Amino acid sequence: MSSSSPDERTLVLIKPDAVRRGLVGEIVSRFERKGLRIDAMVTRTMHADFADQHYAEHVDKPFYPPLKAFMTSGPLVALVLSGDQVIEVVRAMIGSTDGRKAAAGTIRGDLSLSNRENLVHASDSPDSAKREIALWFPELG
Ligand code: CMP
Repeated sequence: MSSSSPDERTLVLIKPDAVRRGLVGEIVSRFERKGLRIDAMVTRTMHADFADQHYAEHVDKPFYPPLKAFMTSGPLVALVLSGDQVIEVVRAMIGSTDGRKAAAGTIRGDLSLSNRENLVHASDSPDSAKREIALWFPELG
């Protein structure tokens, strides 16, 4: 019997730019090929109040109004992924925020040229994963 701790979960959003560009399959495929499990997946359009809740820590930042306009501009795909150290693994796979600077081989590094329209959001810590999964998928709580 393994004595390792239970797998973690993280929340991922495949953002409206990725949906518009037809990159959902490419992005989901990368996570699947890595060996991560998809515990939930839904297409949804984020409305204004929900954006404020999801991005609670950013609502006062100067980049928030255009970020909110972008994130509410069309459908996105929300997923819960699970696997060993999934929060850190997914953050490494998506790369740094600015697609122009993200390393080649990462999702943003290979496919984005923007620090706003950067294709993917992923929880950045166990606390944010818990909060974001409860917000997007309350039925998983
Ligand atoms: P995300 O991982 O969803 O978390 C916050 C988002 O804000 C980030 O990805 C980017 O889409 C956006 N963002 C962060 N910093 C900036 C910035 N300086 N200018 C524009 N957008 C930003």
